[in-house]
Amino acid sequence: MSQTTPRVLIVDPDPASREQCRAFLADRTVETADSGTTALERLATEPFDVVLGDCELGDVDGLEFLRLAQEAHSDLSVILMAAFGSVQDAVDAMRHGAADFLAKPFSEEQLRLAVDKATRTQQLLHENHDLKEALDDRLRIDNFVATDPAMLRILKSVKAVAAARTTVLITGESGTGKTLLARAIHRSSPRHSGPFIEVNCGALPENLLESELFGHVRGAFTGAVRDRPGKFEEASGGTIFLDEIGTSSPGFQVRLLRVLQDRVVERVGDSQSIDVDVRVILATNVELEAAVRDGSFREDLYYRIQVVNLEMPPLRLRRGDIANLAALFLRRYAAETGKPVRGFTDAALRILLEAPWPGNIRQLENVIERAVVLSEHEAIRPEDLPATLHGPGTPPPADNLLAPDSHLLPLRDGLAGPERLLIERALAHFGGNRKQTAESLDINRSTLFNKMRKYDLL
Ligand SMILES: Nc1ncnc2c1ncn2[C@@H]1O[C@H](COP(=O)(O)OP(=O)(O)O)[C@@H](O)[C@H]1O
Ligand SMILES: [Mg+2]
Repeated sequence: MSQTTPRVLIVDPDPASREQCRAFLADRTVETADSGTTALERLATEPFDVVLGDCELGDVDGLEFLRLAQEAHSDLSVILMAAFGSVQDAVDAMRHGAADFLAKPFSEEQLRLAVDKATRTQQLLHENHDLKEALDDRLRIDNFVATDPAMLRILKSVKAVAAARTTVLITGESGTGKTLLARAIHRSSPRHSGPFIEVNCGALPENLLESELFGHVRGAFTGAVRDRPGKFEEASGGTIFLDEIGTSSPGFQVRLLRVLQDRVVERVGDSQSIDVDVRVILATNVELEAAVRDGSFREDLYYRIQVVNLEMPPLRLRRGDIANLAALFLRRYAAETGKPVRGFTDAALRILLEAPWPGNIRQLENVIERAVVLSEHEAIRPEDLPATLHGPGTPPPADNLLAPDSHLLPLRDGLAGPERLLIERALAHFGGNRKQTAESLDINRSTLFNKMRKYDLL
C-alpha cells in the first residue's frame, strides 16, 4: 500500500479545527471529511493509513466510528481527539484499539508526533504481514507444523538462508522431517518456481547414481545408447535435494565436491564441463563426523557442506509439536477414510505427549493413521493406540543432581547420573542442536556424541 507517502484522513465537523490540523500536517497527503458518514464512505473506497477523528462527530459516536473505520480497513491506525478529553476518554479510546488519543487543543508537535508514530506502526504492520505471508504461504501448502521453540528456531534459519544459493545440510534422525524441510526451503526461496529434484543417494549403486545425477554420453558404458542429462542439469534454476549422502561412494563424493565448488558437472564419459545453476540441499541421518573419522566420508567435502547445518531435533525433544502434528494427521486421515473421528480423549493425548517416539514424526503419523482406521468413536481412545506406546517410560529426572546415596558409589558411577541429566537438559534447551549443546557444555561435538551414545540419548 501507500508505504512511501502515508495518507491521512482528518474527520472533524468544525472547519477551523480541520484546517488547523491540515496546516500542522502540511507536508503530508491529507484529505478531510466533515462527518462520520462521509469519512466512512471515503474509507470504504480509498486507501488511507491514518485517520484523525474527533470524538464529537455529530452523526456517529466516537468509539463507534473507531470500530467502523477499523472494520473498513483492518490495519488502519485511528487517532481520536476530543475537545474536553478526560483520562477516561483516552483510556476507552485506546482500549478500543485507537492508535493514540489527543486532547484539544494540542500543539503542532504533539499532532505530528502522534501521526508519525501511527505511520511507523502502520509500516511495521505491513512489513510484518508481507514477511509472514511470504513464508507462511509456502509452508502452509505442506501443512508444516512448527509450534515448539526448537522448530521455530529452525524456521528462522530457513528464512535467513532461503534467499541465497547457499548449500544447506540437514541432519537428523529418520522421520524428523528432513525431506519436508528441504521442500520448505525451496518453496521459500526465489527459485520456488524452478524444479525441485529429489534423489535418494543411499538407494542406488555407485555407477547408477553417478549417471543418474551427472548424466552420461552415448557409449560411456554398456547400455548408454544415447546422451542423457543428469538430475543436476534437470534441476537447473531450481533445487536439488540429495538425501542420505552419508553413505555415498568415494567417486560420487569427488564429483559432488566439484559441483559445490565450481557449479559445473561433467557427464559420465565426457570431459566437457556444463554449467549448472542449482541450490544443493543435502540430508543425512548418520553422524558425518564419525564417517569422516573412519575415512568413509571426505573431510574436504565435509567442511564444504557444513556451512549451514540445520539439525532437526528428534520429536522427543520438541514435544510442543506433538499435539498439533497429531491433530494434523487426524484431520488428514479422517478425511481420507471418511471416518467421523474428530479428536483425542485426554488419556489418549497424554500417551501421545509422553511416548518416546524413536521413529519420530513418521511413527506418529503411522500411529494416528492406524488409530483412525481402528476407531469406532468420535475421539481416539488409548485402546486405539499401539500398546508399545504406553510402556513404562524412562523415570522422570531427579530434581537433585545427586542422588542421596551417591557418596556410596564409585565417583565415576555417582557422576554418571548428573552428567546424563545435564546433557539431557542442555539438549532439550537447544532443541537437540548438538553444536550449541556441545558449546554450552564446553565439550567438543564428538565427546558429546559419545556421551549421548553412552547414556542412550541418541
Ligand atoms: N513439521 C512437520 N509438520 C507436518 N508434517 C511433518 C513435519 N515434519 C515431518 N512431517 C511428516 O512426517 C513424515 C516424515 O517426514 P520426512 O520429511 O519424510 O522425514 P525424514 O526425511 O527426516 O525421514 C512425512 O509424512 C512428513 O510429511
Ligand atoms: Mg527423507
